[in-house]
Amino acid sequence: MGGGEKPELMINGKRLDGRMPDQLRSIKIESGVIKNAVGSAYIEWGNNKIIAAVYGPKEALPKHVQDPERAIIKCRYTMAPFSSLEEHGRSGPNRRSTEISKVTKEVFENVIMLEKFPGSEIDIFVEVLQGDGGTRAAGITAAAVAVAASGIPMTDIPYAVSFGKVGDTVILDLNKIEDNYSDADMPVAISPRTGDILLLQMDGTLSKDDVKAGMDMVYRAAEVITKVQRDALKAPYEKISERYTK
Ligand code: CDP
Repeated sequence: MGGGEKPELMINGKRLDGRMPDQLRSIKIESGVIKNAVGSAYIEWGNNKIIAAVYGPKEALPKHVQDPERAIIKCRYTMAPFSSLEEHGRSGPNRRSTEISKVTKEVFENVIMLEKFPGSEIDIFVEVLQGDGGTRAAGITAAAVAVAASGIPMTDIPYAVSFGKVGDTVILDLNKIEDNYSDADMPVAISPRTGDILLLQMDGTLSKDDVKAGMDMVYRAAEVITKVQRDALKAPYEKISERYTK
């Protein structure tokens, strides 16, 4: 939602960047970009550029945060001070980044097998280098690759994407201008194996039919997004096998 004069977001059935309503932006993921992390990933999702890095499992500290039954997850989402025109060099945690850190953590609490690491903590960092709408979804999608690459066991590799509404049209994967001026948007994270919803937020108002249409798009997007995630996880091993088959 945004102030100011509202631009026309749909022209002749197409969006300002030429996409159809149910079309994703292009998505590229590279795994293993941070050598010190146990798992990491870099995602370019449209104009978003985000790094996710995972550390642990290690002893949870301070000791009083330890859970003797399972690992705890600490998650920190941040936007680099140069990541958008709006930030103007401000950095550090704020209400929005605290909220996104919390919802990201909850996604992973539902897929990581925490009971295998009692007393431990797993740290997930999501650092937005360039933001253009949908960074929480792109961050979760990248963090899922980072956790998978770390070898920390998960029941599934989640993905996330948002949908929203412009006038009468439900659209998938809002960019920043769409996010700012749309009538509503709903970020969603999914466990593709079970179809379980791991994140569901809403800004604005959507009818039941809008949500149905949007969720259809979200589920259909699994094919594309999960393939990019799996290809990123395979790529380092394909390089090794190429070396031995030449
Ligand atoms: O990024 P996401 O859509 O998950 O979160 P949002 O709070 O709906 O923000 C939408 C977009 O606004 C972000 O992706 C950024 O591009 C931009 N934004 C920003 O540049 N600086 C902020 N402090 C907050 C948002």
